[in-house]
Amino acid sequence: MLHRALTCAFLLATTSTGAAAAQGSAIARPEGIWPNVKSSVSRNADTEARIDAILARMSIEEKVGQVIQPDIGSITPADVRKYKFGSVLNGGNSSPYGNETGPASDWVKLADEFWDAAMGADWAGEKIPVIWGSDAVHGHSNVVGATLFPHNIGLGNTRNPDLIRRVGEVTAREMVVTGLDWTFAPTLAVVRDDRWGRSYEGYSEDPEIVRSYASAIVEGLQGRAGTKEFLGPGKVIATAKHFIGDGGTEGGKDQGDNPSSADRLRDIHGAGYAPAIEAGVQAIMSSFSSVRGEKVHGSRDLLTGALKEQMNFDGLVVGDWNGHGQVPGCTNESCAASVKAGLDMFMAPDSWKGLYENTLAQVRSGEIPMARLDDAVRRILRVKLRSGVFSKGKPSTRPLAGRYELLGSAEHRAVARQAVRESLVLLKNQGKILPLAANAKVLVAGDGADNIAKQSGGWTLTWQGTGVTNKDFPGATSIFGGIREAVNAAGGTATLSIDGSYGEKPDVAIVVFGEDPYAEFVGDRQTLEYSADDKKDLALLRKLKAAGIPVVSVFLSGRPLWVNAELNASDAFVAAFLPGSEGGGVADMLFRSAEGNARHDFKGKLSFSWPKRADQTPLNRGDADYDPLFPYGFGLTYADEGTLPRLSEERPVGTANGDGVIFGRGRVPSGWMLNLADEGGPTASIPGNAGATASGRLRVSGVDRRAQEDARFFVWDGSGPATASISALRPLDISRETGGELSLVMDYRVDVAPTGPVSLGMSGASVPIGGALRAASVGQWTSIAVPLQCFHAAGADMQRIAVPFTIATAGRLSLAVSDVRLAYAQVPMTQCGRE
Ligand code: BGC
Ligand code: BGC
Repeated sequence: MLHRALTCAFLLATTSTGAAAAQGSAIARPEGIWPNVKSSVSRNADTEARIDAILARMSIEEKVGQVIQPDIGSITPADVRKYKFGSVLNGGNSSPYGNETGPASDWVKLADEFWDAAMGADWAGEKIPVIWGSDAVHGHSNVVGATLFPHNIGLGNTRNPDLIRRVGEVTAREMVVTGLDWTFAPTLAVVRDDRWGRSYEGYSEDPEIVRSYASAIVEGLQGRAGTKEFLGPGKVIATAKHFIGDGGTEGGKDQGDNPSSADRLRDIHGAGYAPAIEAGVQAIMSSFSSVRGEKVHGSRDLLTGALKEQMNFDGLVVGDWNGHGQVPGCTNESCAASVKAGLDMFMAPDSWKGLYENTLAQVRSGEIPMARLDDAVRRILRVKLRSGVFSKGKPSTRPLAGRYELLGSAEHRAVARQAVRESLVLLKNQGKILPLAANAKVLVAGDGADNIAKQSGGWTLTWQGTGVTNKDFPGATSIFGGIREAVNAAGGTATLSIDGSYGEKPDVAIVVFGEDPYAEFVGDRQTLEYSADDKKDLALLRKLKAAGIPVVSVFLSGRPLWVNAELNASDAFVAAFLPGSEGGGVADMLFRSAEGNARHDFKGKLSFSWPKRADQTPLNRGDADYDPLFPYGFGLTYADEGTLPRLSEERPVGTANGDGVIFGRGRVPSGWMLNLADEGGPTASIPGNAGATASGRLRVSGVDRRAQEDARFFVWDGSGPATASISALRPLDISRETGGELSLVMDYRVDVAPTGPVSLGMSGASVPIGGALRAASVGQWTSIAVPLQCFHAAGADMQRIAVPFTIATAGRLSLAVSDVRLAYAQVPMTQCGRE
């Protein structure tokens, strides 16, 4: 059976908006416009001489091996021995031995195996150790038991660079415990449109915070340049990413196009890079996105001109996940253009083999100049020499390696808990209901209350942060766990009740709710409306309030969202963003001490502007018509009145249900249409709940799943072919989502199993699903996830999908459908359907 996975979806760009990005003028040569930066890591003559000596003895094959970084899910140590790769990475979904929740010791063991492979290889000259990179983006977040910090959006609210430095220090120590060398952090994106699915990875919408944190986080991770701690024991190589403009793409579309002028690119999106380089950051990752139509992975002006020539960056430029393959004329397996533009290391997760062969051929033919390859290898060797990896020995033998007690140690968690406290922003405190008496009878409700995965967000154990449960977070504390501890200690009672039901009436309810985890483009949205599952959270808040119970909302989200109705239904409202593993930090802020004082006052100030309307994007401090609900810098303290007038709950016309949603909550997005058609007969559009084709061969009616008439019931009478379809207002461009492994997910219930073949389709291309429908238990809700790739393979033009959903059969079939969406599914079909 196929399970449904993630409810989050993403932006559906229409072809009309996507086109602008296609061609654009080349960027004006950035001569003179980027700052002349001086790194605090000085060039060392001995190191350079050593590099010369190593390079002189390397074969061409060895050089090409150094510039390629495969993913551990797609190679073995034997491959590293054979090809002498410069580096390996674990992507968000790959872990040692294929076990996402394996023990920390697996990481050390595999790190040793890679090390042994590189050092055991047959080198022409000196042996070159391999380095392992990982996305330790909010703590060492791929590893079970690690301390998980608030995602960067929350850290932005703290305005505390010293704390950011300590976050970096703890993260580096925990990485070193597991034998790793290199983190793909910090993200220095300046996020201008919160519809972007990576908003939470950025510290702020404003360059000022990003600028003030960049050196602190780099120094925390790598150590202070010019001192002994620099890349010494307990330190890792840092990566400033994603250079450049990732947070400024049009419409907030992930991997899209940033239309900024050269000046704005430098002053807004580039704000963090000069301080990061100055602090000695050793790696910079190219952005997937483009700038004024040119993919950064292919931009010589940006990678070489701006970064290396003008900002004097002498470390290595690493690509993003097959990002080179998006450069015009390139594929994942071949991209001389990126090397020529200044990329030093390809991130080639699964494409490494073809890429190795093609790059080698391109060097041999002279298409890639030898001097450029030498420069790339020189930079890689420079970073390796500076990091001490040549002399550090096997990963397991390094200082701190294998000291698993440090992973999630009390001391480390205390730093994270402080970060949680400082990151929370109090938005409403009507009647000064907070701080609460801790000896009260507290009801704790909402699906985020006891859900560590949800409070941690994407990039947590798995890429999307989904598919894990509290037991995968040993040592972590859920928000309820923290509340229970605080309340019990004071002699009160805390009762967990996700749906808010209770026996004895509580004194107060704390409701924890918000966005489910997502990462990258899966989190792209069309609007900022918070609209999880039928507004069930809103219903819960209203129910409690109607019962006369004071309601405190704790909102988990990767960005500010339009929550006017939820704010109206709450007495107090705390924007918690994605706090991570130390849920206790939330309770720290909510309760009074026995003496009646707040135990901690709120310090957090919004690093992103909070919208007044769902369609209010972009919305950033300094806008000409700036009119947020809560401005950048807003955050109440207990000294403030905390009242909020009733807010408008009106949704702007024309906003879709939610993004990636084709059919949800019993509705199609506005302007879309549900249609029924017979072979030959006219198509019947069904604006309401019920209807039929002229011949009556296919009928539809409303049916209840979770709420009244929130699903449709289709009956094919078996007298011949008939099709139900949903047409979009404008054709969708979902080519990016297709490359990104998304699926068409349908939630359904079979009442009468099909008597003939059934096909599920998109704009004329279809896959057979009769087999799945027949295998499903009659009368039970379930899901099917068909990879978008299948429709592509069946001939659909993924750049122009006018009809994103069709279902057809000639036989009998009774089928209820509650939701259809484009989503990242954990268990998609492995083959493209069967009859
Ligand atoms: C992301 C990067 C990340 C890399 C490796 C990419 O998809 O854009 O931020 O470092 O994957 O997981
Ligand atoms: C990687 C991401 C990547 C994604 C797409 C994940 O495993 O970590 O960085 O973008 O896969 O396939």
